[in-house]
Amino acid sequence: MSDPVFPPGPSGNGKLGCLPEMRQNPMTFLQDVAEEYGGIARINMGAYCSYLVSEPRLIKEVLVDHYDKYKKNTRYKQVRMVIGEGMLLSEGMIWKEQRTRAQPKFTAKALNAQLDWISKLAAKFIDAWQAPARAGDPIELEYQFNLLTQLLAGVWVMGRGFQKRAATVAGIYHQIRMNWPEMTDLRASLLRPKNLRKAVNFRLALRELDRCIYELLDEYPSIMQDDIGFLKHLLEEGEAPEKQIRQNRRSLRDQVLTLFVTAFETTATSLCWTLYVIDRYPEVKRRIREEMDSVLDGGELTPEQLSRLEYTEKVVKESLRLYSSVHSFSRVALQDHLIGGYRVPRDTTVIISSYVTHRLAQYWEDPERFDPERFDKARSVGRSRFAYIPFAAGHRNCIGSYMALMQSKLVVALIMQRYDLSLVPGHVVEPQAATTMRPRYGMKMNISRLVG
Ligand code: HEM
Repeated sequence: MSDPVFPPGPSGNGKLGCLPEMRQNPMTFLQDVAEEYGGIARINMGAYCSYLVSEPRLIKEVLVDHYDKYKKNTRYKQVRMVIGEGMLLSEGMIWKEQRTRAQPKFTAKALNAQLDWISKLAAKFIDAWQAPARAGDPIELEYQFNLLTQLLAGVWVMGRGFQKRAATVAGIYHQIRMNWPEMTDLRASLLRPKNLRKAVNFRLALRELDRCIYELLDEYPSIMQDDIGFLKHLLEEGEAPEKQIRQNRRSLRDQVLTLFVTAFETTATSLCWTLYVIDRYPEVKRRIREEMDSVLDGGELTPEQLSRLEYTEKVVKESLRLYSSVHSFSRVALQDHLIGGYRVPRDTTVIISSYVTHRLAQYWEDPERFDPERFDKARSVGRSRFAYIPFAAGHRNCIGSYMALMQSKLVVALIMQRYDLSLVPGHVVEPQAATTMRPRYGMKMNISRLVG
């Protein structure tokens, strides 16, 4: 029998191979690669080769069937500097312990039980949009959704004590984003003053963030008295809170910040795209309003009502198909392995792009068309579960997927009952690969209050 071969794929140009194209626009570049080379492709990046796995059957091989032959790609140094060794980037026993401990707080039952305060806080935030609506000022939706989801994630993770820090944390996080360094090594940045300035500002903002979180940790007596907060759940188990905070300060900080960051940025971006498509397709807007009228009664939203917003849920899911906030994620091969009969050498980075897989014509008819009814039960029959991966799959899938869908439906419902939003004419909308797939120029919308 002959040795397994490498899969086909682009070699690019010069010393850097395809790296420049990948950096410029990973979404469209990877889509072109999948179209030309099929379900598995080997991409020359100059000093190394990465694989793109886009065929659902092969994605299952990596994420489920042979999950133990891959580890998460934790080479994102900048992200690691911000969130440390929390559940997103930890490995092995530490990860297992963190995930097992967190799981009970992520069940539908546990999250539905929190809907009351989430809905009140979100409604208060969204009611404040009356001011720009009255003044006829547009709102910057991405900015607003980041503030809102930070507030919700912050209180959910850290308890009510987060509220008085929300503005400070938002300011610090803005600094972190604006100064996201190209390289983390300060000495290497010395050669380019702009990089150095960013690297220094980035570190200063991180220091501020740490200070804020540690200060909050030191308020553990009020955290323990609170009726909500994931941190309280962590501190309730094992040693006395005071001792845990003294001994595991850094680890608690990492776990708290990981959940905060993973929860807010993805949900904010996804909400932005959902409101964008609702504005773009008048028929979708009409049907959502119709559903709201028939399901909601103007009072507090209940979990039961949210579960009946079936059309709205399909709209959120379809917007996550076309605009997955996490456009791609990756794994690293721990040993030589075969995927689809092709050779994958140890240490190879395997990229899985939801952006690409969500556009495969074999699974998604007329893939660029926004069509929420794709998610009707009848039309979903026979479609591979691995053709739809906004929350990844397998043992390292997104633990917060229920929370994301619940919050998205809630926020859409609160907005659609109160306002009409429409993109400011001439505002250019274009996806950009940042830490999430955000709208490159933000999302500026005109806002008016609904009468009645
Ligand atoms: C629309 C919103 C969201 C999207 C699209 C999303 C997507 C994802 C994806 C694709 C992954 C896997 C990443 C990888 O394997 O490299 C992931 C992991 C994760 N997500 Fe989400 N997410 C969302 C919301 C949330 C929320 C609300 C939380 C709540 C805290 C959350 C917490 C996490 C955590 C902790 C992980 C790491 C899980 C592990 O490795 O065990 N996410 N998410």
